[in-house]
Parts: sequence; C-alpha cells; structure tokens
Amino acid sequence: MTLLDELNSGQREAATALEGPVLILAGAGTGKTRAITYRIAHLIEQGVPGSAILAVTFTNKAAGQMKERVRDLLVRKGLAFDDPWIGTFHSFCAWLLRREASRLGLPRDFKIYDADDQNRRREARPRTAQHQGSGRAYPRTAGTHQLREKSCNDSLPGRQRRSEA
Ligand SMILES: Nc1ncnc2c1ncn2[C@@H]1O[C@H](COP(=O)(O)OP(=O)(O)OP(=O)(O)O)[C@@H](O)[C@H]1O
Ligand SMILES: [Mg+2]
Repeated sequence: MTLLDELNSGQREAATALEGPVLILAGAGTGKTRAITYRIAHLIEQGVPGSAILAVTFTNKAAGQMKERVRDLLVRKGLAFDDPWIGTFHSFCAWLLRREASRLGLPRDFKIYDADDQNRRREARPRTAQHQGSGRAYPRTAGTHQLREKSCNDSLPGRQRRSEA
C-alpha cells in the first residue's frame, strides 16, 4: 500500500502532479491540507530535494500542522525530512529580504514594525515645532494598508488607478 492509496481521486491527482501549478478549491475540512502534504511527500519520494520545496501558509498554526504531517508521512516511508521550507509567508519573506538585504540597500538586521509597533513609535517621538499646535502630531489613521494602497496606485498609469476604476 502506497501513500497515494490514502487519498481520494481528486487528492491523488493533485498530489501526483509533479510539474506546473495545481489549484485545489474545496470546502472546509475536505482534505486540502492532506492533498498538499501528500504532494510534498510524493515529490520527495520521487527524488525532489526537500530544499527545493517551499510551502507557505498564512498562520504559524497551519505551518506547524503541515510540517508535522509531512514529517509523519516521510518517517512512515523511511525518508529523511530533508528540510523542505514549511512556514508562514511572513517568515519566508522576512528571511528572503534579509538574505538579499545588501541588494536592496538595507542592513541585514533591519527591523519590521507591525501596525501597533508603528503607532507606539509614532507616539514616542517628540513633537517638532512644525507639528505643535496643528492638531494631531502623527495621525494614527495613516495605516500601513493605506500607505501600501497609495504606493501601488502611484506606480500605476492614471487610467488603472483603483480610485478611478
Ligand atoms: N482521503 C482521505 N481519507 C481519509 N481521511 C481523510 C482524507 N482526506 C482528508 N482526511 C482527513 O480529514 C480531516 C481533514 O483533512 P484536512 O485537514 O486535510 O482538510 P482541510 O481541507 O485542509 O481542512 P481545513 O479547511 O480545516 O484547512 C483530516 O483528519 C484528514 O486526515
Ligand atoms: Mg487545511
């Protein structure tokens, strides 16, 4: 009995696709993660080095669960875990930015501020003469998502700007 015998036909089709993109669209609890974890194990079983596999999730909990499941499958098949990258896309992007920091003109030890960190930092800064008396010194409302939206829009030709769509 192979690992693939533990999948239904749709899962098996996804897990055995060695080349190209696969989109798994299915409801909650229907076996999406199972298809992905078996695909990773199948790729490794077929000789793909674990270091060539990247699996990203949204939450740490999902990443931990996926890592655990892949490890269990590989142990059952007597295969080495061989270090596939399984983590959140935040941790992967932070790792990549740090690795390529010098190309981006950033120090390798740059800090990443979430929205709360940014607000705390803003409030900790002393008011300058320019800001005093002009209401709020550093408005809380300019959240990261608004800045991101602005920066995306600024890089688009006029007709494609979201605010004009
Ligand atoms: N073909 C299958 N045979 C037996 N059990 C299965 C099969 N597919 C999934 N399961 C089991 O069903 C449960 C849910 O599977 P899984 O976690 O992969 O679903 P999911 O779609 O990722 O769920 P969620 O939407 O919560 O992320 C798990 O316990 C899994 O082992
Ligand atoms: Mg899942």
